[in-house]
Amino acid sequence: MTQDELKQAAAHAALAFVPDGSIVGVGTGSTANHFIDGLAQMKGRIRGAVASSEASAQRLAAHGIPLFDLNEVTTLPVYVDGADEIDPTLAMIKGGGGALTREKIVAAVAERFVCICDASKRVDCLGRFPLPIEVIPMARAQITRALQALGGQAVLREGFTTDNGNIIIDVHGLRIARPVELESTLDQLVGVVTNGLFARRGADTLLLAAASGVERFDAG
Ligand code: A5P
Repeated sequence: MTQDELKQAAAHAALAFVPDGSIVGVGTGSTANHFIDGLAQMKGRIRGAVASSEASAQRLAAHGIPLFDLNEVTTLPVYVDGADEIDPTLAMIKGGGGALTREKIVAAVAERFVCICDASKRVDCLGRFPLPIEVIPMARAQITRALQALGGQAVLREGFTTDNGNIIIDVHGLRIARPVELESTLDQLVGVVTNGLFARRGADTLLLAAASGVERFDAG
């Protein structure tokens, strides 16, 4: 199976977690796109979706799936999204597509976070994938210095603006042994909007696709 077929297998397995009549939180990226396409096949059974990016909103709308503003809903039974890396505690690095802020906001409202990945995303320790940080543009230089002081190599994502009008700094060379602590430390840097560690609120369930099938892991 190709990597894309594995992403599709994980995404389609997540459809079983969508309750009838619900509004679904929808992530961003190539794996989430497969989920959106699968959701379209059962759109008569759901009320609609809250999207975590403009790109996902457009894809949902193209399928005729009703879109809800997050401020219109008080709870979402499930949020389904991919990840760039996921560790054994189901802490993740996200934001490779730059949608980390809205992803974290929608995930925070959801009762269950279902992460959908191909097997290449599973790691023992987070950090091989550069950690994305969304930053207010005027804070770029000071945040870059602060990130270097934390031991990472901070690289501006050239030519990229988030859906919120901000920049992304990708931090290379981190070995993240304590993701909950680092997530909190980064959140305290003035000028950081969101960091791509999803550890304090990690996934509840991981659907990991390999050639042998889709395996389910639940947070302990
Ligand atoms: C988007 O900003 C990210 O958080 C994605 O969830 C992550 O990059 C996974 O993307 P793919 O499904 O395309 O690998």
